[in-house]
Amino acid sequence: MPATIVLGAQWGDEGKAKIVDFLGADAEVVVRFQGGANAGHTVKVDDQTYIFHALPVGGINPNTLCVVGNGVVLDLESFFAELDDLTERGLDVGEGRVFVSNCAHVVMPYHKALDQAAEASKGSGAIGTTGRGIGPAYRDKIDRTHGIRVMDLLDTERFRDRLRGAIAEKNQLLTQIYDAEPLDAEQIIRDYLVFAERLRPLVTDTSVLLNEALDEGKRVLFEGAQGTLLDVDHGTYPYVTSSNTTAGGACSGAGVGPTRIDEIIGVTKAYMTRVGNGPFPTELLDDEGERIRELGQEYGATTGRARRCGWFDATIARMSSRVNGLTNLALTRMDILDTVETLKLCTAYRLDGEVLEEFPADPRVLDKCTPIYEEVEGWCAPTTEARHYDDLPDKAKAYVARIEDLSRTKVSLISVGAQRDATIRVDE
Ligand code: IMO
Ligand code: MG
Repeated sequence: MPATIVLGAQWGDEGKAKIVDFLGADAEVVVRFQGGANAGHTVKVDDQTYIFHALPVGGINPNTLCVVGNGVVLDLESFFAELDDLTERGLDVGEGRVFVSNCAHVVMPYHKALDQAAEASKGSGAIGTTGRGIGPAYRDKIDRTHGIRVMDLLDTERFRDRLRGAIAEKNQLLTQIYDAEPLDAEQIIRDYLVFAERLRPLVTDTSVLLNEALDEGKRVLFEGAQGTLLDVDHGTYPYVTSSNTTAGGACSGAGVGPTRIDEIIGVTKAYMTRVGNGPFPTELLDDEGERIRELGQEYGATTGRARRCGWFDATIARMSSRVNGLTNLALTRMDILDTVETLKLCTAYRLDGEVLEEFPADPRVLDKCTPIYEEVEGWCAPTTEARHYDDLPDKAKAYVARIEDLSRTKVSLISVGAQRDATIRVDE
């Protein structure tokens, strides 16, 4: 801290929420800067499990301000359902604690309908999106014709006009391209004007709020969603999400300059998972993959889909360190590997007889790569009770050290369980 970005260094679901929650204990502000309700950030506190989709995980902490930045695409249905759920569970997530950027774009019902229709029409070429309207909402933002920002929603006349303009085009797409049902503009207007009044007291210029917090020396955590390999520029395009999930996205998506950032933590599992389609060089399609999926209960928090599992890929870790300028890694889910006798680390790829050290940007090249593995003896001992680095079995320490070496990035945090205290600060 003071300004720390926590982001995914793999394909999402790395355990970012657990790390944000752990570090958030002494953060005054936590901000989401990209993505939307495609995120499923799970935190376990005592016997309670919270899954955040729109709100930053900081919501659990009574002293933390929660900010939804300008780079987020905001799904108001999901957002208010989340606020209601948290309120029922005794958390204060009202005015004065939750702030929403006036510049964030709103995910509309037609974005979800188009996301689902487009995916269905692609057959085996589908991206495997979460169906939350993310791509279509960002498309409207970038396209500049029909995007609806929070500030537009709060201006009733302007909203009506923009919505009617948008729906004319969206219904044509839905009915004529996708053979789907049209949506009722007047119904959407009625529903969203109700949302607008509920949203109004939370809306502000969050860039001003965040920069003022930093000026006052407050600690601000930037909570990434998805992961580096899902970044629209640096990920495994086109099997990516529609935002910049990498460190630069934290600055543009929060309205904070890069010179203000002190620390960038890449969260990475001790193995790898991916949900959705697209390349995954170290994927395990055998019993070993099934075993890791069961040990780790690797099923999606947003869609419930089974996650694909594979070995830790250092080629990817190096790429992630490079594009994000990581200052350190948080290594999660170490405990899941406690019973695995032999582990594998992918050190580089082999391509046409040559060794490739850098992750290739071209998916056709990636397809031809085979991982080069190094076998590492498993520690075969429980790590869940470890609270200091020295509590870890020697072989587990060796695994961490090898990951640091291969990734060329220091591991500063290790998670050995879902609970907040099951976390090791390496240099303590
Ligand atoms: P968190 O924040 C894992 C994946 C989808 C799909 C691709 C595009 O919980 O780590 P989208 O709906 O964004 O257009 O889908 O991205 N994806 C995620 N995978 N964790 C996530 O979020 C994800 N959000 C999107 O599965 O492959
Ligand atoms: Mg998730």
